[in-house]
Amino acid sequence: MTDSGIIDHRLTEPDAAPSGPPAFPIPDNVFAEKVVLVEHFTDRLFRFRITRPASFRFRSGEFVLIGLPNAERPVFRAYSVASPAWDEEIEFYSIKVPDGPLTEHLQKIKPGDTVLMRKKPTGTLVHDALVPGKRLYLLSTGTGVAPFASLIRDPETYEKFEEVILVQTCREVGELTYITHLVTDLVNDPLVGEMVEGRLKLFTTTTREPFERMGRITDLMIGGTFFEQTGLPHISPAKDRAMICGSMAMLKDTKAMLEGFGLIEGANNAPATFVIERAFVG
Ligand code: A2P
Repeated sequence: MTDSGIIDHRLTEPDAAPSGPPAFPIPDNVFAEKVVLVEHFTDRLFRFRITRPASFRFRSGEFVLIGLPNAERPVFRAYSVASPAWDEEIEFYSIKVPDGPLTEHLQKIKPGDTVLMRKKPTGTLVHDALVPGKRLYLLSTGTGVAPFASLIRDPETYEKFEEVILVQTCREVGELTYITHLVTDLVNDPLVGEMVEGRLKLFTTTTREPFERMGRITDLMIGGTFFEQTGLPHISPAKDRAMICGSMAMLKDTKAMLEGFGLIEGANNAPATFVIERAFVG
């Protein structure tokens, strides 16, 4: 347990004994990787890190399918890689769904356990899908912040944009812990620490528990409060680019808002001024 009450387990011995041989054979086309760290933030949210296979390449912002070796045909779910493309480990940020086919088991993983990862990453929240601009808005709700945890740790983000504005709206204050800690620690990062100073802004809000900033980001931007509070100019297609990740309802409303500001949705094969990740909504 750390000072903040967060439970943090890291595999201290590189060769610490795994929890026994897998009961089921590892399927073809997956990497079987070892858990190196598990950190629980709330009773509904945790992050974990696994070893990175030498041959695994991905672009910051992409997602992969992950599962557990607990069945003949394991359940796989799409997870954004929350660590940047240069990191020697792979990080994921996850919700714990009671009775969720994957997360009811995933939430119990410990350092040394095995996690399966399909070999092919994909996704639209990548620099290649945006045309150049001055400011990059990363708009998220809940665990939708995960791909942005990757992008804000990638030097390419600061090479391409002068300013990066990361927004996360959650129901409760505790759900903001992951990204708040990550951004606070980023100034000490040997690779991007100097790049983020004065250029990365984190704007967090809650909707159901009192906090210094409250309201859905869509309401705050459309009503103008966001721009008044941050001093940023209103979003315009001349200088601003955006990425969106959240629930289906949030994607729909945020897309409509950005289109109202004059931005146009892009894709890997047709870069434009904003992109959406639809892989995580049913
Ligand atoms: P709210 O509490 O007003 O519903 P959820 O857990 O339902 O995915 O919601 C996560 C966060 O996203 C909550 O703060 C929620 O606000 C907010 N949210 C839900 N729907 C939308 C939407 N359509 N546009 C913007 N934010 C939303």
